[in-house]
Parts: sequence; C-alpha cells; structure tokens
Amino acid sequence: MQPLRSYPTTQLRRNRQHDWLRDLVAETSLSPKDLVLPLFIREPSGEKMITTMPGVERHTLEDLPSIVEKALNLGIPAIALFPYTPNALKTIDGAEALNPDNLVCRALRLLKGRFGQDIGIITDVALDPYTTHGHDGVIVNDRICNTSSNTILAKQSLNQADAGADIIAPSDMMDGRVKEIRTALDQNGYDNTLIMSYAAKYATHFYGPFREAVGAGAIRELSHKNLQHKKTYQMDFRNTEEALHETAMDISEGADMVMVKPALLNLDIIYRIKQAFKVPTFAYHISGEYAYLKIAAQHGALDYEKSLLEVLYCLKRAGTDGIFTYAALDAAFLIK
Ligand code: PBG
Repeated sequence: MQPLRSYPTTQLRRNRQHDWLRDLVAETSLSPKDLVLPLFIREPSGEKMITTMPGVERHTLEDLPSIVEKALNLGIPAIALFPYTPNALKTIDGAEALNPDNLVCRALRLLKGRFGQDIGIITDVALDPYTTHGHDGVIVNDRICNTSSNTILAKQSLNQADAGADIIAPSDMMDGRVKEIRTALDQNGYDNTLIMSYAAKYATHFYGPFREAVGAGAIRELSHKNLQHKKTYQMDFRNTEEALHETAMDISEGADMVMVKPALLNLDIIYRIKQAFKVPTFAYHISGEYAYLKIAAQHGALDYEKSLLEVLYCLKRAGTDGIFTYAALDAAFLIK
C-alpha cells in the first residue's frame, strides 16, 4: 500500500532545511574511487597544449609518474592512457599500434614498474591515434573492414597486455572484437587481463576536442563520403534498443565491464544498461562535455566546480559504477 502523501501533513521541504539534513537523506554518493583519469601522453617533441581542452595537457613520460602520484594521493584508483603519435609514425594501417616500444607500451612499463598494482591502467584499443586518416579500423575498398580491423585490434590488445595493461578497453566499435581479443589474451596467458568494452559508443559531434588531443583530425579530409565520419561503426544517437543489443553481445563475448559514451547525453542508456545487465557500468564524460563545462565557466556562465560535481553525481544517480573524466583530479580534490 502506498502511504498517504498529502500536504500539509507531508511536506517534502522538511527534509531540505539544512546542509547536514540534505547530506543525511542524499540517495547518491560520489567518491574519488568512482573516477578514472584519462591522460594524454606525448613524446618530448610533441605539443603540450590542447587548445580545445583548457586545463588538460599532453604529458611526457617524464612527467607521468608525478601526475599518477597526484591521482593516487587523491584516491583515484585508475588512469586511462591515450597517445599523441608523431605524424611520422602514422600509416594507413596504424601499424605503430603493434610496436612493442610505442608510446603507450613505454608508459605502461614505466608506470607498472613504478606503481605496480597501486594503480589500475586502462588502455584504449582502436587505431585512430596511429592511422593517417584517423579511423579506428582498417580501410579496405573505401570501407572500414570489420575482419581486418579485428585481427589488428586483437594484436594491439596483446601488445598492451605484454607491456602490463590491466584493463584492455576496445573503443573501436567493430563487431565481434571482444571475442577475438578475449581469445588472443587467453591463448597467450593473459586470462586475468580484463576487458572493458565501449559497448554503447555513439557517433557524436562531441568528440572534437579529443581528436585534437590525439591528433586524429584527418578524418574530415577523406574523399569517400562514408569515411568522413565514424557513423558506419559507431552507434546512431537516435537508438536505444541497439545499445542494449551491443552490450548483450559484448558481455556474451567476454567483456568484464561495459562503457557508455558520451556520458551526459546518454543518462537513459546508462540507466537501462545497468538495470538490464547488472554488470560494472562505466560512463565517459567526454572531451566535448568537458570542454563546454570548462569553457562556459571561463566565460562566467557556469560555476565550474559546482557544475562539475553536479554532473558526476547525476551520472552516479543514473547507475554508473565509474566515470572517466578529464576533471578527475579537480573532482577528487573537491570531494575530499
Ligand atoms: C577513439 C576514441 C575516441 C574517444 C576515445 N577513444 C574518439 C572517437 O571515437 O573519435 C573520445 C573520447 C572523448 O571525446 O573524450 N578510439
């Protein structure tokens, strides 16, 4: 039976009178332990500043340990690495992804040697930082070829696992890649390496600043129309059922955790995936979402700190277990 809830006997505002009281009845909590810090890494010769992401920069391997130290001291459990690859190393097939001495692998060895299991390291599986065209897969006959892409993505995963990655995070949106990656890892003794699949990753216009950050901008300049965007593999933002289907497939192929991306635009998807599958569910507060918060705040339209915490709380309320955010250090500091 529903209790009788009528005014003036019931007054919901009674519970909202003081800070302590609002804290006492709050339904959602937020901790630095819920956050993942994405980090852009570069060679010493690479450009440090990212103009479209104020407050975020690309780090050299030399700078990296001190940033990780800072994250650890604030209680952040994991980082995610994204490389800014020198143009000279980019090719049409993204072969640098398989180089055991590429930037990401060197960063993994450095950080794992230094911090061991004090910090979790998540690595991105996709070819966009390594291809001349900026696509996540391999182009065959003016198409992103699913089979050839899966083959190279499984090798990329193995390369990262060899260098010490804890969680392999395929963000490429090829069909069946989780299965191929799981098989490759298991066959090579990496049965404890986790897979976090970007299960529901939408083709959004909010990835722009990230593409500047990793230098994957060439995508717009390709001649074939279908290659000028990622809509032939990333999801259509008009769809929900498809997100559930994608997630079901990735879980059945061996994903240990799933990701919804972008985060704020897809609170309904996060909620539905968490309700339906009950698996660890992550959200990626992506570059465009970060940029509009930060840049609006710089222009005096928003209070950055308060708005940031609101965003993160609302993502938790929707059902996320963990949030990737470029503002993780700021947020962890504010929470503490
Ligand atoms: C690509 C990748 C993208 C992001 C993470 N991995 C961009 C894309 O698909 O073009 C975006 C993250 C962000 O915008 O913050 N593999």
